[in-house]
Amino acid sequence: MNDKNFAAASLAAQAMGWIDPVTKAVVPPIHMASTYQRDEDNGFRSGRIYARADNPTFDQVEATLAALEGGAKGLVFSSGMSAASACFLALAPGDHVVAPKVMYWSLRNWLAGFATQWGLKVEFVDADKLDAIAQAVKPGATRLVWLETPANPTWNVTDIAGAAEIAHEVGALLAVDSTVATPVLTRPIELGADIVMHSATKYLNGHSDLIAGALVGARDDEHWARLRTMRAQLGTILGQTEAWLLMRGMRTLFPRVQWACRSAELLAEKFAAHPMVSEVLYPGLASFAGHAAAKKQMKGGFGGMLSVRVKGGERAAIATAARVELWKRATSLGGVESLIEHRASIEGPGTPCPTDLLRLSVGVEDAADLHADLDQALKRAHNS
Ligand SMILES: Cc1ncc(COP(=O)(O)O)c(C=O)c1O
Repeated sequence: MNDKNFAAASLAAQAMGWIDPVTKAVVPPIHMASTYQRDEDNGFRSGRIYARADNPTFDQVEATLAALEGGAKGLVFSSGMSAASACFLALAPGDHVVAPKVMYWSLRNWLAGFATQWGLKVEFVDADKLDAIAQAVKPGATRLVWLETPANPTWNVTDIAGAAEIAHEVGALLAVDSTVATPVLTRPIELGADIVMHSATKYLNGHSDLIAGALVGARDDEHWARLRTMRAQLGTILGQTEAWLLMRGMRTLFPRVQWACRSAELLAEKFAAHPMVSEVLYPGLASFAGHAAAKKQMKGGFGGMLSVRVKGGERAAIATAARVELWKRATSLGGVESLIEHRASIEGPGTPCPTDLLRLSVGVEDAADLHADLDQALKRAHNS
């Protein structure tokens, strides 16, 4: 289907237009088998041996993801964390990597803990500043520069094309956690990234009903083969049913993300002028530090994630979250239902997240309802 140059939204809606060759079903079956029969001459002409290496139910979702990202190949994993950690474990102990100070907290903790004990030399930088990345990379020693953009939970934006140039100049790969931007808004491989990572738990699936991760490689090369082998050996594969559900969720990726972007933009503007809010963090606001970089690389919207800093500090922020009726008080993001979270509480000690910050994941409800609900919660918390 992609030979005809259909737009990414069309590829996603029809999951590449694949039709089951046997039944002509427009939605493929789930292949539950964990093993495949050998041919009589002892061969495996089906190309399949054992389902820890791959599974036919992965094929469509991996092909669709690769097409949406403009990459060569895709790999689905059991979680975003297993997809991300594979990128680091594919390096060798002693290798130097550069990662952002502001990033998904669990991956930051894993890098500072396990990965460092394992032997990686991890340097955390202010990755929204290209100068900071340029100063941190070491020619011949830095093997990977990791970005997350926009980055949790303050939505710092990194200029991907600029970072790719810096990484490649010293012989490092550039990997981008593009969970928040999604391929609807940003295609990091076109900007020079070597690997794109997703917590597919979020926007790609979009319905808060599975945990999944994904990588897309710019090239089907030796490094990509190493990642594929690692997934097969460690068994960090996605379950068959989850892969099928993920494919179903991805069919509506474009309308969900576009809707969420429109609502988030509206909410950002309204809450920026709210008397009980000291600051709104959203890449789409002209006043936001990363707005120029976001405008350069985010097409068609600035994402469905924003954060508000509540006047009155931590107490007022938690009191506000306690008073919402439509927003759901829960961690995670990218689902059809809007979520609100006092982020510092979950990140714990050492977090760079301000304690007055509420993270908002905007879903597909009516934007006026979302506005009215948070407005009443802010006012009631203020008067409490
Ligand atoms: C930006 C980002 N990257 C990675 C992850 C980890 O993904 P998972 O929870 O699917 O392991 C998350 C989860 O919240 C995330 O928000």
